[in-house]
Amino acid sequence: MPLINENFLKLKAGYLFPEIARRVRVYAAANPDKHVIRMGIGDVTEPLPQAVTTAMHKAIDEMSVRETFRGYGPEQGYDFLRAAVVQNDFAARGCDIAADEIFVSDGSKCDAGNILDIFGAGNTIAVTDPVYPVYVDTNVMAGNTGHADVVTGEYAGLTYLRCNAQSDFAPALPTSHADIIYLCSPNNPTGAVLTRDKLAAFVEYAVAHKSLILFDAAYEAYIMSDAIPRSIYEIPGARSCAIEFRSFSKTAGFTGVRAAYTVVPKALKGKNKSGDAIDIHPLWMRRHTTKFNGISYIVQRGCEAVYSSDGKQQVAGLIQGYLANATLIRQRLTKLGLIVFGGDNAPYVWIKTPRNATGDSTKSWDFFDTLLHQAQVVCTPGAGFGLAGEGYVRLSAFNSKANVEEALSRIERVLGKA
Ligand code: MLT
Repeated sequence: MPLINENFLKLKAGYLFPEIARRVRVYAAANPDKHVIRMGIGDVTEPLPQAVTTAMHKAIDEMSVRETFRGYGPEQGYDFLRAAVVQNDFAARGCDIAADEIFVSDGSKCDAGNILDIFGAGNTIAVTDPVYPVYVDTNVMAGNTGHADVVTGEYAGLTYLRCNAQSDFAPALPTSHADIIYLCSPNNPTGAVLTRDKLAAFVEYAVAHKSLILFDAAYEAYIMSDAIPRSIYEIPGARSCAIEFRSFSKTAGFTGVRAAYTVVPKALKGKNKSGDAIDIHPLWMRRHTTKFNGISYIVQRGCEAVYSSDGKQQVAGLIQGYLANATLIRQRLTKLGLIVFGGDNAPYVWIKTPRNATGDSTKSWDFFDTLLHQAQVVCTPGAGFGLAGEGYVRLSAFNSKANVEEALSRIERVLGKA
């Protein structure tokens, strides 16, 4: 029998979203007449922008003709897409990023996990709490943690940067040395954004401690305030201490199409066992080109169209629609007396659960069950994102306006205010 990677045995239960899906399936099977509204997983509901589908159709036509057919493309992505990314996402915001620092891929979740391949054992890892579970679970799989505490569920060896309502869910700097720090802004799950000063403080910390920041900017398209950085490279010094993950999923409705990219600046250094500085860019290039064959030409033409003038307009329409839903959620839940966060520069609204009979916040999985069983609305329990998420739930604004309105009316009825 083959030996297995025992780190997998340290993982707690199932991944959060399949567990939610399992509970919803059980409920739906027992209640086939009920219409369940899914506001749990952050999955887009609106169709692809027309500029994207037109470009993809054209690319399919090219693929059907011998003269324009293409086989394997460059693993890192076609030049036309990397150039469009640099021009629109970085140069336009004054960020110094070159096309060969862009690595096109099939998703930020994959990249955020795969990046650990190029780092050695023994790095100290800092994550926020609440946290997107992928950052934690992939570090468990990679052997960067000990076992989970039986009571708290937290993994030995990980540094948790607590975020709470008092600090608007912004993480504090690590108080002990961290080699790798995960940051996500706009944040999944809290919807909080990192201000320029806050992000600059993390960059300063990383430069001083020779740490690496893994910056997840999958939701940057939802930032409406000009004061909030959309890329970590807007902060001086970030080229030497940060990798950034970007995605077309939540921006242009690509969750089912699959396209993302990761920025690995050539200024980044790690070290070997003897303490010599080693360039990170060629290591990621080696990993990416060895284990990945790129995403399809058709999809990359669709991505390129996101940056066309029609594409930009249509994408802005999608974002505005989801943000209008988030505003509706914020407003109506606030009216109900609930305390809400996020949702203004993010597609997620983070909600303090109502007090129970004993005056404590309802446990987040209990409130999840209440909403599912009584309102047929699916949320994501905050406890699934870590200890500091207990007593909260997340509602995703990715839905049609009609469904969001219906879900809110049902929640109002359940909470006795309608
Ligand atoms: C979420 O709901 O947190 C996201 O959809 C997860 C993801 O993007 O992988």
